[in-house]
Amino acid sequence: MSNPGDFAYTVKQQADIVRIIGDYVKLKKSGAQNFSGLCPFHNEKSPSFSVHATKQFYHCFGCGVSGDVFSFVQKIESSSFPEAVRSVATKLGIPLPKQQFSPGEAKEASLRGKLLDLHEAAAVFFEQQLRTPAAAGAREYLTGRGITDEVMKQFRIGYAPDSGFALRDRVKQEFDEATLKQSGLFSWKDEAGGISAIYSKFRNRIIFPISNEQGKVIAFGGRIMDGAADKEKAGPKYLNSPETPIYSKGRVLYNLDKAKEAIRKLDYSIVVEGYLDTISVYTAGMHNVIASSGTAFGEAQVKLLGRFSKNIVVNFDPDTAGAAATERSLAMLVEEDFNIKVITLEQGLDPDLFIRKRGADAYQKEVIQSRKYFHYLIDRAQAQFPSRTADGKVKALNFLLPHIQRVPSRIVRDELASEIAQRLSIDSAVLRQELKSAASSRTQKMKTESTAQQVSPAENILVRVLTSHSAQDEAARSNVHDVLAAEKLHAGWVMEPVFEALLKASTEQLSAPLELPMGDSDRSRLASVLMQSDERDDFTETTIRVALAAMRRPHIERALQQLQPQIDEAGRKDDTLKLTQLSAEKLRLKRALDESMRAGQGR
Ligand code: UTP
Ligand code: MN
Repeated sequence: MSNPGDFAYTVKQQADIVRIIGDYVKLKKSGAQNFSGLCPFHNEKSPSFSVHATKQFYHCFGCGVSGDVFSFVQKIESSSFPEAVRSVATKLGIPLPKQQFSPGEAKEASLRGKLLDLHEAAAVFFEQQLRTPAAAGAREYLTGRGITDEVMKQFRIGYAPDSGFALRDRVKQEFDEATLKQSGLFSWKDEAGGISAIYSKFRNRIIFPISNEQGKVIAFGGRIMDGAADKEKAGPKYLNSPETPIYSKGRVLYNLDKAKEAIRKLDYSIVVEGYLDTISVYTAGMHNVIASSGTAFGEAQVKLLGRFSKNIVVNFDPDTAGAAATERSLAMLVEEDFNIKVITLEQGLDPDLFIRKRGADAYQKEVIQSRKYFHYLIDRAQAQFPSRTADGKVKALNFLLPHIQRVPSRIVRDELASEIAQRLSIDSAVLRQELKSAASSRTQKMKTESTAQQVSPAENILVRVLTSHSAQDEAARSNVHDVLAAEKLHAGWVMEPVFEALLKASTEQLSAPLELPMGDSDRSRLASVLMQSDERDDFTETTIRVALAAMRRPHIERALQQLQPQIDEAGRKDDTLKLTQLSAEKLRLKRALDESMRAGQGR
């Protein structure tokens, strides 16, 4: 992907992968050159994600992902390769060259750039509009809801005037029609003779800009005012930007840009449903608040949030009728291993109303007193099904089981089981049995994934020799290279395709072995081996001899097996000459086998 002389190559040479990944994952030193942490790409309780500081790559022993600094940024930010290069370069303060994209990529990147600029221009326009006399009603509405001027500025709240053309006229000099059409801010009708003029989607609405993690405006939510003259014509309560090249609803959390530092520092987030709830909680002094914006949490959003903290206090009402979105959100959070607490405010109050009625301190107290999600569930089960009767217990259990089975950790599941058993006064052994079927299918899956095709110690050593950078390993490296190439010892071993790639590679290519052409699972195996290597690896002659002998052994065994029928055949035919030759060969193979065994014991 990156070749000497490329901009990407220059960036990669200067990038400290530990520092860059450290922005997303809490890393701890775990070896001379290694750092480890919780994998951001799959669920886990104990760290199996490693970063190799000098070889500048990462690998997860749990889910098998691996790659260099760019592949990490691409994955975690869901961006393209050029965007990842650009992003790493920016972090390092390396000035970007003018030309670094292919024509297609350049076009895409430039459209996104234009859309971001357009959204910024629109945000400024809406903010300014809120200061005009035409927006008196909007300002009054906001003030009536306790939103001060300062808060309006802070959240860049704006007003979309009751006109289809005002925004278009403001931006048409600077942005071409294609950009306007892709922005999601405008509508137009196809007509026989062409296309009619484009007009604003957001009209006579209070505007809440939605930003990405970096604080760039990427979409808008527009609220009608309660006093809107014609309710029918006014449309939905909130009108939101559609999906665009810069906005994907499932990947964005409202207010994350402002909240992320507080979430990291306090090590928990507060999640509410609405824009105005978010603003109220934030203004009340709890800066670690974000919103799911009415819809269920998707996996991408939960993973995004998990990068900052896995502790969460949810304040959407799990009791409300038809709260399917809430159910799904909580299920998703459980599956992604979050520690969840639940706030249940008194009937009919959302966070915004609660804070205005009872004050910031009262809300803070609710946050502190929030209950563990599973305690909340047990309470609910008990309230719904009187657990004195056997029938009630079964029903309560049936209500709780699906929730518990979502918990990824067996330890946590067991803890919950004994807690529930105690609370519902049922035999905890019975409950564990109930849970077992789900648990066993889960571990079964993990096992087949992890034990499939183990890399042997010999392969491990030889791969590390072949990829060693250090001068003192030079002799060993060329020795291993020659022996493997001549005898094809790697044939039939798990790492065969990796050895093939390494043997074919030039010295130059060997400096970035993970970029050699090979299958994904082979690359993952290679990464896993390289992760154990150290710049100070010292391969003694014995180590290498033992490893080569171990790889040779199955070949000798196979040759011996194939020899025996030939010997029998020659014996039947009384072909003495052939018999002598074959016996000599057998003896030679036996000696070689003994030698390989001795080598194996000698370590
Ligand atoms: P709510 O109806 O609870 O609104 O929807 P709210 O945020 O409390 O707003 P106020 O207090 O009534 O002014 C919660 C969230 O669901 C999304 C919005 O993100 C809203 O903030 N929503 C709601 C929509 O996207 N469209 C709608 O029509 C309604
Ligand atoms: Mn509300």
